[in-house]
Amino acid sequence: MAIERSAFGELPDGTEVASLILHNGSGVVARIITWGGIVAELWCPDRHGEPGDVVLGYDHLEPYLVRHPYFGAICGRVANRIAHARFTLDGQTYQLAANDGGHALHGGLDAFDRKVWAAEGAETADGPALRLTHTSPDGDEGYPGTLDVEVVYTLAGTALRIDYRAVTDRPTPVNLTNHSYFNLAGAGTVRDHVLRLEADGYVPVDADFIPGGEIASLDGTLLDFRQPTPVGERIDRVNENPTGYDHCYVVRGTGLRPCAVLSEPGSGRVMRVETNEPGVQLYTGNFLDGSLTGKRGVRYVKHAGLCLETQHYPDSVNQPAFPTTVLRPGETFTSTTRFAFSAEG
Ligand code: GLA
Repeated sequence: MAIERSAFGELPDGTEVASLILHNGSGVVARIITWGGIVAELWCPDRHGEPGDVVLGYDHLEPYLVRHPYFGAICGRVANRIAHARFTLDGQTYQLAANDGGHALHGGLDAFDRKVWAAEGAETADGPALRLTHTSPDGDEGYPGTLDVEVVYTLAGTALRIDYRAVTDRPTPVNLTNHSYFNLAGAGTVRDHVLRLEADGYVPVDADFIPGGEIASLDGTLLDFRQPTPVGERIDRVNENPTGYDHCYVVRGTGLRPCAVLSEPGSGRVMRVETNEPGVQLYTGNFLDGSLTGKRGVRYVKHAGLCLETQHYPDSVNQPAFPTTVLRPGETFTSTTRFAFSAEG
């Protein structure tokens, strides 16, 4: 097992962005860059042992520096949306950077996906691990308190495990996720991928993707993935402008538990997702429109990849009925998600 460090590029001010490749002989290999903590490559063998890169992204740093749809990035301080970019905590109202209509999305304008994280590699009992750290200062994007964040990527067997930790010196909402777009065929769209979600309910949202506060049953909806279902089967009937899935599912149970199984019949590749988060946002790359060209010159058309963003529900800080995202001094935020790969059939 090993971690190989090399230069990936430089910011305009000369700051180095490093690339770290994690491998352990399992056949699964991950390349993570310190810009945004982005999972830039994730290689997994197909049923014939042929490696394929199963995440969308870029070959070079430059296109990642331009605003991009969060390819592979760590999202925070609060992933997903906060309505009207505003919340009240302990009687004080905070105005955040609004970067999604009038709402806050994925931590704001210059959020965790656009930071160079400090990186330290280690060989652990579970496998090669990359520890990324970042300090978000008090008032960052409007959020209160200095937040120290740690994200550890561990290549454990054929799984990429992500362990998040954060501590604060003032109460603040925290909701961290990884925004990888998966395509287990390594090309084309995810329409033929088969998805199963361990969810009986979801968070209904308005046209701006803002929840009203209730949890609804998936019974009889186009969103129900309790039975393994091709992603493309109902996708054109879900949502409008653009069509596709962009929904937070309520993951059944608590603790580190199964959340999703995604499989691709052509390659035989299977990805099993486990998380201790209460929710997972299924986003099927609905805003991709062929205008971005990614690794190996591939144009990212609509539904070229799908995200399974494990997280708390959107706008939790304004929704008293949702599990809380508020972190207080003296507490430690922890969260774990595993993406485990295999090939079958
Ligand atoms: C998310 C959101 C989507 C979209 C993408 C980024 O996951 O839920 O609506 O904003 O990020 O393109």
